[in-house]
Amino acid sequence: MKIVVTGGAGFIGGNFVHYIINKYKDYKIICVDSLTYAGNMETLDSVKDNPNFSFYKIDIADREEVFNMFENEKPDIVVNFAAESHVDRSIEDPGIFLKTNVMGTGVLLDACRKYGIKRYHQVSTDEVYGDLPLDRPDLFFTEETPLHTSSPYSASKASADLLVGAYYRTFKVPVTISRCSNNYGPYHFPEKLIPLMIANALNDKELPVYGTGENVRDWLYVEDHCRAIDLIIHKGTVGEVYNIGGHNERTNLEVVKTILRELGKSEDLIKYVTDRAGHDMRYAIDPTKINNELGWLPTTTFDEGIKKTIKWYLDNRHWWENIISGEYQNYYEKMYGSR
Ligand code: NAD
Ligand code: DAU
Repeated sequence: MKIVVTGGAGFIGGNFVHYIINKYKDYKIICVDSLTYAGNMETLDSVKDNPNFSFYKIDIADREEVFNMFENEKPDIVVNFAAESHVDRSIEDPGIFLKTNVMGTGVLLDACRKYGIKRYHQVSTDEVYGDLPLDRPDLFFTEETPLHTSSPYSASKASADLLVGAYYRTFKVPVTISRCSNNYGPYHFPEKLIPLMIANALNDKELPVYGTGENVRDWLYVEDHCRAIDLIIHKGTVGEVYNIGGHNERTNLEVVKTILRELGKSEDLIKYVTDRAGHDMRYAIDPTKINNELGWLPTTTFDEGIKKTIKWYLDNRHWWENIISGEYQNYYEKMYGSR
């Protein structure tokens, strides 16, 4: 089996490359990544010399490059992780989100149409459903929840999902879509809540909590996400959407306080800052469908996963210290300097 993994130098794509290469010794992994600020070849250090691994530095929105890659490789499966993924950046500059997340998905689908494919899998997000109110803990996102987006990021991901559905219905491209809740774990870029708070706490810097910190996210350890996608591409039903997540809801403040406690740091480091525009209140996934159809449930609780994650950041300081020493400083100043 030949699998194209787009966005494989990023957080979840990188974890997925490791997961698949270790599990399926006879699969060929073709990693496609344009290496934006979020892509990091160090994440692929341990697999880059594996004979079953190859890498193309190309932009998924570049039709010619993508079609050439398909012509060379004739993949069986495409799993599309490549995206601009950070909500805050989408509020600053929406344009690149449309190009990569919408146009890029369109180019990949056109290539799948032309060259044929056993499966195209779109890695989507629970953010396409919008948010849930804090005072209705009985409500969860199901696959039937209407799309109702809040940020340019989530709007671009929802647009891509609609395109994927259209290529299934109109052109019979064999697609699946997964919509996952917030991931955390190794190789998570330190612009996102958990790795940013770990890095800041370790450097005794302020921990910037947006608004009141009451917003709720449903945290999933990244390996559980990889296992779910593995099941969907091998056993999922073509044309279907699968929600992935599982009852690990925490307020942002709870997450930040847990990190401080685990690291033995003072809560005085917390600084409440101006809220994110359009900030979604609560995400919570109902994973009944993927549980019933594919037998998937998360295996790592938040309490275990956050300990493992903190340990990884302590053991792999070079990985994130390299990132935060460069252009990231300008990003940090721009986003947090006068917040
Ligand atoms: P990430 O930002 O860490 O990585 C994205 C990767 O895509 C990077 O390696 C980047 O270089 C690459 N990329 C960006 N634009 C590209 C382009 N035009 N062509 C080729 N490569 C390009 O993102 P992530 O957090 O790993 O998210 C991966 C996917 O999972 C995204 O589609 C995201 O919407 C989705 N998702 C993320 C989460 C989460 O909590 N992080 C949850 C649910 C879904
Ligand atoms: O739900 C899935 C989504 O989860 C993915 O589709 C996105 O790609 C991924 O980035 C993530 O989006 P969020 O916006 O939920 O993640 P983020 O880590 O940016 O923020 C998590 C929460 O923490 C959110 O309520 C905003 C808050 N936050 C974030 C940062 C970076 C802070 O309070 N302070 C911060 O500095």
